[in-house]
Amino acid sequence: MTENRNAKLVEDILRLKEQRQAIILAHNYQLGEVQDIADFVGDSLELSQNAAKTSAEVIVFCGVHFMAETASILCPDKIVLLPDINAGCPMADMVTAEGLKKRKKELPGVTVVCYINSSAEVKAESDVCCTSANALKVIESLDAREILFVPDQYLGHYISTRTDKKMIFWPGFCITHLRILPEHLTRLRQEYPRAKVIVHPECRPEVIALADEVLSTGGLCRYANRSEVEEVIVGTEIGIIHRLRKESPTKRFIPASEQAICPRMKLITLEKILWSLEEMAPEVRVPEEIRLKAKAGVDKMLEVV
Ligand code: 13P
Ligand code: SF4
Repeated sequence: MTENRNAKLVEDILRLKEQRQAIILAHNYQLGEVQDIADFVGDSLELSQNAAKTSAEVIVFCGVHFMAETASILCPDKIVLLPDINAGCPMADMVTAEGLKKRKKELPGVTVVCYINSSAEVKAESDVCCTSANALKVIESLDAREILFVPDQYLGHYISTRTDKKMIFWPGFCITHLRILPEHLTRLRQEYPRAKVIVHPECRPEVIALADEVLSTGGLCRYANRSEVEEVIVGTEIGIIHRLRKESPTKRFIPASEQAICPRMKLITLEKILWSLEEMAPEVRVPEEIRLKAKAGVDKMLEVV
């Protein structure tokens, strides 16, 4: 029954997508059925690169708000749809432009690097943007004495262990990644002694210390595809397991924690995608003055990678 309903939904979405000249971009944490209808599935960096180069008129962004906003920052002439406007990233909400302005006054001359998981207003107040895939490269490229990294203290901390730059952290965090605990990895390593442990850099340092690889979600997928990797303990949001199993059906993927679910990512459903294409809403658009300031930092990032 559900299969029939989904098949009809998929058919309607694909038909309307053609009519609207739309492209569907989906993040690696999206529901499996959403990933399956997307034109492209990837991490934040890959999604922004795809948004920047698409010739489609409409981008249906299956991810969270800051991702759709970044697409709109890069492509102001396109219509960017986020099928559920409530799909925000709680970590991105942990820093506001006002709060950042205040902190900058306390740290005169500081260079602000903002994680892409931030609002357009925060990006506009920052010097350069980065994602988990390129944070180290971006930070190393800067001729800066002192760096204020916002909002993820854990990604910031991880990068600080790999660079000589002085880094100051904003106290933000990802509630989903914090659900992954070192004891989960220790127990699973005992159960699956041959497995590789891969984690996202938003995890806490004690978790990162136990990992074989620390990578963006796109990097984790590429690593899992390597032929010598057969069994993998996956320390990130469990939506990624759908893609991993699809790309490597004979390998074994074990979630580090079944609780590592991002509820906001799961707000995007096939029904909402269809509705969004029918209504051409909800649209995400950034006011021009903020867009131009935010774009400067995003462009700088895209030049580095
Ligand atoms: P990636 O850029 O690695 O896909 O990460 C985005 C994110 O929100 C992780 O929680
Ligand atoms: Fe934000 Fe964490 Fe969800 Fe990623 S997994 S979108 S950082 S809350």
